[in-house]
Amino acid sequence: MSSFTLITGASMGIGEAFVREFAVQGHNLVLVARSVDKLQLLAEELRRKRGIQVEVCVMDLSENGAAESVYAFCCKRNIHVDVLVNCAGVSCAGSFVHIDLEKIEELVMVNMVAIAKLTRLFVADMVVKKKGTLLNIASLGGLQGVPGLGLYSATKAFLITLSEALAVELQGKGVDVVVVCPGFIATTIFANSGHNVNAIRLPLSTTDVVVKSTMKGLQKNKLRVFPTLLDRCLVFSQRFVSRKTAVRLAGFFAAVEKN
Ligand SMILES: NC(=O)c1ccc[n+]([C@@H]2O[C@H](COP(=O)([O-])OP(=O)(O)OC[C@H]3O[C@@H](n4cnc5c(N)ncnc54)[C@H](OP(=O)(O)O)[C@@H]3O)[C@@H](O)[C@H]2O)c1
Repeated sequence: MSSFTLITGASMGIGEAFVREFAVQGHNLVLVARSVDKLQLLAEELRRKRGIQVEVCVMDLSENGAAESVYAFCCKRNIHVDVLVNCAGVSCAGSFVHIDLEKIEELVMVNMVAIAKLTRLFVADMVVKKKGTLLNIASLGGLQGVPGLGLYSATKAFLITLSEALAVELQGKGVDVVVVCPGFIATTIFANSGHNVNAIRLPLSTTDVVVKSTMKGLQKNKLRVFPTLLDRCLVFSQRFVSRKTAVRLAGFFAAVEKN
């Protein structure tokens, strides 16, 4: 049975940046997302340039049973996943009372249900092998509610809370847990979620910064990673303001246009 790093949301943005970093480190990879063409092109490039094994698992994680299918895909190919990167995520900007009900289901399925199930399935095997790494990509938005991104921020709070609990549950079992909380990163997530990126009142960082800080965090055995100095300052500043002010500030910085 060969060891692989499985990355969801591998087709673009932060997920693709993790794919490239783990490829440089010589990991065999399972790439999960819906965009079959992007995944296949990326897989071919990495096999050619890095000489690693790359499997493409085309999956819509918003569908019932998706996590089980990803797990079955790996079992069928005798793949042991020793690093799981839960990066796939969707956002939705605007007033909560106007969100389509289908969108609510999509966010909950991709950002919460699929992650919880993938984690349950793959981490159980890591525990048996007494070796593994779980990398969850949450968000600074998960540290408090963000007006205009209420549901998204709630799903990220879920991921932070789950990761914190797992880190303690898994202590001494050979499985490291890291939850990454980036601020705003230049990717397509804003265009896809109806969030006007030009209105955001904070500088955008890059996917490379997220990946580098995560690798450092892993080395230093950190549970939570805040990629930039600005992210760390924002987290620190929360100690000096009320919870309500923190929420208002988060909404001010995100600057989601009212609908
Ligand atoms: N960009 C930011 O400012 C920021 C900040 C904090 C946290 N994050 C988090 O970072 C993660 C990556 O986001 P990103 O900024 O890189 O966004 P992105 O460029 O939009 O990438 C999102 C990834 O998720 C995949 N995905 C979305 N829906 C999916 C579905 N139903 N099934 C399977 N895969 C799906 C997409 O692949 P396909 O479309 O090919 O399926 C894509 O690979 C997310 O969890 C996001 O919440 C982003």
